[in-house]
Amino acid sequence: MRTPFIAGNWKMNTTPTEAAGLAREIVSALEGVYNLEVAVAPPFTSLAAVGPVIRGTSIRLAAQDLHWEDHGPFTGGISHSMLEALGCVYVLVGHSERRIYFGETDHLVNRKIKAALRGGLRPILCVGEEEAERKGGRLREVLVRQVDRCLEDVSAGAAGRLAVAYEPVWAIGTGRAATLEDAVEAHQIIRHQLELLFGTQAAAPVRILYGGSVSPGNAAGFASQPEVDGVLVGGASLKVAEFAAIVRAGW
Ligand code: 13P
Repeated sequence: MRTPFIAGNWKMNTTPTEAAGLAREIVSALEGVYNLEVAVAPPFTSLAAVGPVIRGTSIRLAAQDLHWEDHGPFTGGISHSMLEALGCVYVLVGHSERRIYFGETDHLVNRKIKAALRGGLRPILCVGEEEAERKGGRLREVLVRQVDRCLEDVSAGAAGRLAVAYEPVWAIGTGRAATLEDAVEAHQIIRHQLELLFGTQAAAPVRILYGGSVSPGNAAGFASQPEVDGVLVGGASLKVAEFAAIVRAGW
């Protein structure tokens, strides 16, 4: 029912020249892949270089962040319309690295989600618990709070443009991915909360991705779970053969 979605988050890597080269290699490695959606999220400064390389292919352009206002005196800020003008379709919002290193709160994430939706972008809301929260038995509480606060005042009509990425903080960049059981449990909590917020029907098309140490070795497992609609890939998305193997993992 939901088209599988594989997104690569390049984080703070690649100059424009490197990004264009990486995108060219990904385009050729993914030739013939049509049954799912793929997006790449280069840094802001490489979006203009990657856009033309993937134009006309089935690969979509994503940004890693955006500002919550439309324009104005926000030095260093990047607005939704600037991203749209560069051909971005998707935008990551609330990645845990933004929350941890840049002080983003659920409230700010909510404003960014609404800015993306005000424009023509499709936000990918990132949520996930820290290790201490999981160990303290607070998984459900944390996910419910993040989903509720980050999606406050988002209408059911806009839900179809939304995706959610479940990225447990302890699994990001550690090589220690969540087990299938843990990922499925978290995805079920998130879907239930989306259904409470938007209604079952409006929530149905929202894709929930898993992120955190996704690799060619574990991608097929995630692909086998109906609750997992795709993956958000960090480190492995910078390695063409690994990213291609994850895309071809049997979604
Ligand atoms: P890794 O795949 O490197 O663990 O990163 C996951 C992530 O943060 C994707 O947004």
